[in-house]
Amino acid sequence: MLNDRIEKPWLDAFQRTFSLCGLQAGDSVAILSETQSRQINIDLAELALLNLGTRAFHIRVPTPSDTAPVPVRSTGASKALGGLEPVLNALSSATMVIDLTVEGLLHAPEVPTLLQAGTRILMISNEHPEALARLQPSEQLTPKVKAAAKMCKQASQMRVTSAAGTDLTVDMTDAPTAGVWGYTDRPGTMAHWPAGVVVSFPKQGSTNGTLVLAPGDVNLTFKRYLQNQVTLTIENDYVTHIAGSGTDAELMRRYWAAWGDKEAYAVSHVGFGMNPAARYEALTMYDQRDTNGTELRAFAGNFLFSTGANEFAGRYTEGHFDLPVCNCDIWLDDQLIIKAGQLQGDLA
Ligand SMILES: [Fe+2]
Repeated sequence: MLNDRIEKPWLDAFQRTFSLCGLQAGDSVAILSETQSRQINIDLAELALLNLGTRAFHIRVPTPSDTAPVPVRSTGASKALGGLEPVLNALSSATMVIDLTVEGLLHAPEVPTLLQAGTRILMISNEHPEALARLQPSEQLTPKVKAAAKMCKQASQMRVTSAAGTDLTVDMTDAPTAGVWGYTDRPGTMAHWPAGVVVSFPKQGSTNGTLVLAPGDVNLTFKRYLQNQVTLTIENDYVTHIAGSGTDAELMRRYWAAWGDKEAYAVSHVGFGMNPAARYEALTMYDQRDTNGTELRAFAGNFLFSTGANEFAGRYTEGHFDLPVCNCDIWLDDQLIIKAGQLQGDLA
C-alpha cells in the first residue's frame, strides 16, 4: 500500500515532464480535475507548475452521474466537461491544460475545439504517482515511437499471429494512427503520460480473424491477468463468437452483454506497447484503486487489441476492453516488427 503524500521524486517527475512540454515562467496553465480525480496528482501538478514559475489555476468540475449499465473503465473519453462553455473558454485560453479527469480527455468530444483554440493538453492517466515517476517520458523512446507510428501510417495491412492460435488481419488503409511519447510542446496538440504505445483506429470492415487470449494475457477493464483461454472470432470488425470456459470468458460475456449494444463488440483500436520501463507484472504490484493499467498498455512488445468506440469507423459506445496480448508476431505488410512479443530492429 502506498501513502498518498507529496514525495520529492514524484514532484520531480511532474516537474520534469512539464519541462519537456516547454512550459515557461509566466505561462497560464489550467489544472483540470473532477471531484473523483486522484487528489495527490492534483497537488503534485500544482506544486510542479508553481516551481516552474507558471501561473497555474484549478478548474474542478463535479464528476458526472453514471448512465451506463455497468461501471465504465478506461475509455479515455471523459464526460466531465459536458460541453460546459465557461469551462471550455477558460481551458481554451490557457497556454496548456493538465488533464487530471478520471477517464482522461483523449477521446472527449470537446478536445478538437480546445486544440483549435491553440492550447495544448497533457492527459495524465489516473495512475498512482509512484507509477508515473517510474514511467517518466524518455527522450530516447520518442524517436522509436515516432518511427513506429510512421510505419503504421504507411502500412496497408497489419497481421498478428501467435503460437496460441491468434491469426488476425487488419486493413490499415487510411487508419488514423497515434504515437504516444508522453509530452508535447506544440500548441494545438495533445499528449499523454505514461507513454510508449502506438495505436491505430481501423476504418469500417477492416478487421477479421481469430484472437486467442491465452493465460497470462490481460483484460484491463477487469485489471486481471487471464487464467483461462478465451478465443474471439472477429468478422468485419465485430466479435461474433466468444469461446472458452471459466471465469475470464464469463466475465467478458457478461460485461459485453450488459451494454446491449452491438458497437461494444467492435474493434476500437489495434497497436502495440514500446516502453521498456513499463512492467508486465505491474498489475500485481498495486491495489486496484492505485492503478488504471496504463503501464500494461505500454509494456514493450505487447499486441494491444481493444474493442469499443472508434470514431473513425463511426462507432460510439462506452463499452471498452483494452486487451494486451503477449507473445505475438506482428507484421506490417512484409515487415516483422514484433516477433514472439519482442520488438525488432530499430524499434527495440
Ligand atoms: Fe483503449
